[in-house]
Amino acid sequence: MKNKYPTYGFFLVLLMVFSSCKNEADYHTITDKIEAEQKPYHGDLTSEELLTGTELIKITEGEFTFLIPERKGQVKSFACIECHSKPLQQMGNGKETKAHWDIKINHASVASMNCATCHNPENMNNFNSLTGKDIDFNLSHKLCAQCHSSQFEDWKGGAHGKKVAGWAPPRASMTCVNCHNPHSPSFEPRWPVQFNTQKVIERNEGLEH
Ligand code: HEC
Ligand code: HEC
Ligand code: HEC
Ligand code: HEC
Repeated sequence: MKNKYPTYGFFLVLLMVFSSCKNEADYHTITDKIEAEQKPYHGDLTSEELLTGTELIKITEGEFTFLIPERKGQVKSFACIECHSKPLQQMGNGKETKAHWDIKINHASVASMNCATCHNPENMNNFNSLTGKDIDFNLSHKLCAQCHSSQFEDWKGGAHGKKVAGWAPPRASMTCVNCHNPHSPSFEPRWPVQFNTQKVIERNEGLEH
C-alpha cells in the first residue's frame, strides 16, 4: 500500500510540469498574454453567479445598462392592492385605523413631503411621479431621481452607491432604497467607538514592571 504514493506523486509532478509549460511564443504580444491570462478579481465568477439567491432586474438609464435588486419580493406589505383595492377615501370607513403607524416621515419638510408625494392614493401598487405618472415599485430610483438628480447621475455612472458584487461583468448595483429608508433617508450620526484610556494606562504600567 505504502509504495503507491511515490508513483502518484511522480505523475502529479509530471502533470504540473506539462500543464505549466505554456510557451511564450503562444502569444504574439505581451498584451495578448496579459489578456489571455488575466483573471477577474472574483476568479471566474460573474456578478450574476455571486448573486444567486438575489433576484435582479436589468435597467437602462441613459447610456448605462446594469442590474439592480428587485424590490417587490422584499417589501413586506406588497402587494398594496391586497388592502388598497379601493381609493383611500373609501378605506377605514372614516375611522382612523392607522394601518401604517410605524411609518414616520423624516424627509425634507412636512410642507413639501407627504404620502401622496410618492404614493398614488388611487393606485397604491405604483408610485406617483410629481407629474402624476405611475412608477413601478422595482424602479423606485426614478422616484428619487426627480429631486436628487446629482446623486442619480453619479449613481448611474457607479460613483454614488455600491456595486452589489465585484467589478466582474455584468455590473450589478444596489439601488437607492437598499441604503436609504425612503421615509427617513438620512443616516443617524454616530459617536466614535469609545477609547478606554484607563486600560491603556494599566497596560503601560504593566510594561514598566
Ligand atoms: C394590511 C392591509 C394594508 C396593506 C397591505 C397596505 N395598506 Fe396602506 N393602508 C391600509 C389602511 C386600512 C389604510 C387607511 C387608513 C389608515 O391610515 O389606517 C391605509 C392607508 C395608506 C396610506 C395613507 C396614509 C395616510 O396617512 O394618509 C398610504 C400612503 C398607504 N396606505 C400606502 C400603502 C402602500 C404603499 C402599501 C404597499 C406597499 C400599502 N399601503 C399596503 C391598509 C393596508
Ligand atoms: C419620498 C417618497 C416617499 C414618501 C413621501 C412616502 N413613501 Fe412610502 N415608500 C416609498 C418607497 C420608495 C417605498 C419602497 C421602499 C422599498 O423598496 O423598500 C415605500 C414603501 C412604503 C410601504 C411599504 C413598506 C413595507 O416595508 O412594507 C408603505 C406601507 C408605505 N411606503 C407607506 C407610506 C405612507 C403611509 C407614507 C406617508 C406617511 C409614505 N409611505 C410616504 C416612498 C415614499
Ligand atoms: C419631491 C422631492 C423628493 C423626492 C421624490 C425624494 N427626495 Fe430626498 N430629499 C428631498 C429634499 C427637499 C430633501 C432635504 C433637502 C436636502 O438635504 O437636499 C431630501 C433629503 C434627502 C436625503 C438626506 C440628505 C441629507 O443631507 O442628509 C436623502 C439621503 C434623500 N433625500 C434620499 C432620497 C431617496 C433615496 C429618495 C427616493 C426613495 C428620495 N430622497 C426622494 C426631496 C425629495
Ligand atoms: C450603497 C449605499 C447607497 C446607495 C445605493 C445610494 N446611496 Fe445615497 N448615500 C449613501 C451614503 C453612505 C451617503 C452619505 C451619507 C452621509 O454622509 O451622512 C449618501 C448620501 C446621499 C444623499 C445626501 C447628499 C450627499 O450626496 O451626501 C442623497 C440625497 C442621496 N444619498 C441620494 C441617493 C439616491 C437618489 C440614490 C439612488 C439613485 C442613492 N443615494 C443611492 C449611500 C448610498
